[in-house]
Amino acid sequence: MLKELIRTCRSYRRFYEDHAIGEETLRELVDLARLAASGHNLQPLKYLLSWKPDKNSLIFPHLTWAAYLKDWPGPAEGERPSAYILVLGDTEIRKSFTFDQGIAAQNILLGAREKGLGGCILAAIDKKGLRRDLGIPERHEILFVLALGKPKEKVVLEVLQPGGDVKYWRDEHGVHHVPKRRLDDIIIG
Ligand SMILES: Cc1cc2nc3c(=O)[nH]c(=O)nc-3n(C[C@H](O)[C@H](O)[C@H](O)COP(=O)(O)O)c2cc1C
Repeated sequence: MLKELIRTCRSYRRFYEDHAIGEETLRELVDLARLAASGHNLQPLKYLLSWKPDKNSLIFPHLTWAAYLKDWPGPAEGERPSAYILVLGDTEIRKSFTFDQGIAAQNILLGAREKGLGGCILAAIDKKGLRRDLGIPERHEILFVLALGKPKEKVVLEVLQPGGDVKYWRDEHGVHHVPKRRLDDIIIG
């Protein structure tokens, strides 16, 4: 079951935007991040939740989607995320956050997948603009935006042959293909 959850826990970028995700669901997901491993157990991560269209529309313009899909500017209206979780680092607890945010993000995305939702980690963010538009205090470093929604796209895994291209692609049916290295190519000894 865990393997299946991980297999289907892909980056989703198109959603049924009218599928609402409520505050309680977002709180449940952050609760999974709360239990994650943390360097020195300092737990410096803080979260900002967004599930209402007004606030969502303040976040969306600051995101960069799927850099390898050169002709795709990101999800169109109606296919945008219905909620977001911003992962922030509290600089009064720690100055650098290194790995905590990755573990926290994966816990959240796995939890979302279990609920039939999906999402995408976004690090290519206009952090200055996002901080300004959401009024995020300087104390909190913006680390990731997690976009969430009910996926409206099919994502499939492909075998990445040695020397092959890591770029994901979308085919003529709109299916998103993600090449992954083979097990024998990543275990070196
Ligand atoms: C640290 C990190 C930052 C990422 N930032 C972005 C981003 O800014 N925009 C985006 O569309 N996808 C982003 N992604 C998603 C990756 O493109 C995605 O994980 C990769 O293509 C593999 O697809 P998969 O998640 O389905 O395995 C990010 C992923 C990670 C782990």
